[in-house]
Order: sequence, then C-alpha cells, then structure tokens
Amino acid sequence: MEIVLSGIRPTGNLHLGNYFGAVRNFVRMQEQNQCFFFIADYHSLTTHPKPTDLHGNVKQVLAEYLAAGLDPEKSTLYVQSDLPEVAELYLILNMNAYVGELERVTTFKEKVRKQPDNVNAGLLTYPSLMAADILIHKAHKVPVGKDQEQHLEMTRTFARRFNRMYQEDFFPIPQAYNFGAELVKIPGLDGSGKMGKSEGEGNAIFLIDDPKTIRKKVMRAVTDTGPTQMNQPKTDGVENLFTLLKVVSTPDVVEHFEVQYNNCIIRYGDLKKQLAEDIIAFTEPIRQRILEISSDDNYISRVARMGAEKARESGAATVREVREIIGFRHF
Ligand code: TYM
Repeated sequence: MEIVLSGIRPTGNLHLGNYFGAVRNFVRMQEQNQCFFFIADYHSLTTHPKPTDLHGNVKQVLAEYLAAGLDPEKSTLYVQSDLPEVAELYLILNMNAYVGELERVTTFKEKVRKQPDNVNAGLLTYPSLMAADILIHKAHKVPVGKDQEQHLEMTRTFARRFNRMYQEDFFPIPQAYNFGAELVKIPGLDGSGKMGKSEGEGNAIFLIDDPKTIRKKVMRAVTDTGPTQMNQPKTDGVENLFTLLKVVSTPDVVEHFEVQYNNCIIRYGDLKKQLAEDIIAFTEPIRQRILEISSDDNYISRVARMGAEKARESGAATVREVREIIGFRHF
C-alpha cells in the first residue's frame, strides 16, 4: 500500500486553489492508501512569527479540511507541532542541506522580496522542514499544487542524499502527485498569477465565502475590452476566467463561451454570472459543513488528538531508525 501525505499552512482560509490543487486529490486517494494530512503550524512561523490566534487558525483550517472531505477515520489528520519528532528530523536533514541550494529555491527568493525585514533561517530551511514532514512517514506520493513542485524536488534530493550518505535504501523517493497527471495552478481573479491567500483582496475565492461575496468577487474579476478578431489569443485575466470555468463548470458550458469568444460575440458579464453560479453550486454545500463542523469544538479536538497519536506512532518509529542509522545510541 502506498503512503500519501499532504499539508497546508494555517495562515488563512481554504480557497479554491488549495482545494483543486491539493485537497481534491487527497480526498480521492484516502480511499485506497495510507494517508497523512497535517496542518503546518511550524511552517507558518516563517512568515507569521507572532500569530494572533494560532490555535484558532489551526482549528478553523481543520474544520475546513474536514468539510472538504478529509475523513479522520480513513486518514491521519494531525497538527505538525503535535509531532515534535519532525523537528529532530529537520535538524538532521539540515546537516546535509547546502546553503547554496537552499538559496536558489524560488519560493525563498520570493519571500526575500516580500519580507526583506524578516529573512529568517526558517525561511531558508523551509524545504528541509517540508522534506522532514514527508520523509518522517516515508511517503510515496504528495498531492500538491504546481507551486510546491520545486519543494518536492528538494525532498527527493535530501532523501537520495541521506540514502547515499548512510548507504541505506531507507527513504522512498516521493513524487508530487495529481490525478490528472499534470500538477495544477489555479489562477486568481486579479488577472495575474495564482490564487493565493496573501495575494490581495478579491484575488481568492474561499470555500467559506457566501454566495453574495462570491458573486461580487467574480463580477469584479479582471477582463479586457473583448476580442476584435476571430480566434484572438486571450489576455491573462480572460484566460484565468476560462481556466476557472473549466474547473467548476461542465464541458458544454466551457465550449459555449469558447465559441462565443472565438466569434467575438462574448459578453464577459454572462460568463462571469455563469462562473459565479457554478462556483457557488460547488462551494455552498462545503460552506454549510464548515459552519456545522467549526461549531463543534469537541469533535475537532477529538480528531486532532486521535491524529496526533497515530502520527507519532509512525513518525517516532522513523526517527528511531534514523538515529540508529546515523549512529546515535542510548546509554
Ligand atoms: P500552502 O499552505 O501554500 O497550500 C496548500 C496546498 O494548496 C496548494 N495550492 C494551490 N494549488 C493550485 N493552485 C493554487 N493557486 C494553489 N494555492 C495553493 C499548494 O500547492 C499546497 O498543496 N509548503 C506547503 C505546506 C506543506 C506541505 C508539506 C505540503 C508543508 N509541508 C509537506 C505537502 C507536504 C504550503 O505552503 O502549502
């Protein structure tokens, strides 16, 4: 049986990018594999060193993931800091992670640009901690979005290096995974890049957004003045709306608007209305479940405690073996 693992930072609500990039794949995989899903609260300190309500955020994200279909009976759902053994593996992996390779990671360079006053060592070694998350359960597959591809590459490098250095075929070499083969990047509504929780107001649609908010955000999405020639290439904002449509709408709806676009008779307002309604049809049942689950503190605590226990069983065993391989011995 394969081991599947994925995670998310508790720095905001769950959005469509998180869902279609990672969670949807995980939910499907939990039926047939041994699955771990965790909330990366240690990681969140790299960008949010003084969180105002860390515990509350973790609880909210747990509730949202449960609502999105993670099943605590089928998967191990846990909080990263409830598995402190991961910090030891992180320390060990850091001894064989080179500063040069860490400095070349795109997400690190991005963060240096975004938070020049807080270029901390945790940011630089983010890939080592992420590798520790994955390797501590000896995962084979990691359902993630495209933005995490390079981190997975680093994880493979660290796993291979460890295996080579200690001459043991110990860690499996994990793969980033998506059911559709290609990793996906869900675009935002502001005409640029990806949907993200820190990309600015109106860029992301959260699963917790009510229908009114979703309609407002979609109607304000960036477009252009419309095509003037048959089969004209699309501008970024318009391309993004089509990408979102492909994710939430049926193929005939997509086809309908493609034909209208290619014949220069499209009205973006119509496309946006349809897109908003199709997003709502998809998110509304999840939103209702989020509201239900997040009001049940006892249930969330029970899930987290049960997850912590299962995660520690698996993680502590790996760290014990790693200590053994390297040569640490108890007196
Ligand atoms: P995070 O918290 O940024 O995002 C969680 C998951 O959502 C995916 N995602 C997207 N996918 C497609 N399109 C988007 N616009 C989009 N935005 C986010 C991310 O790819 C991710 O899969 N470093 C990770 C958390 C982490 C982790 C791990 C993941 C820590 N350790 C070990 C997997 C395995 C992160 O910051 O994800």
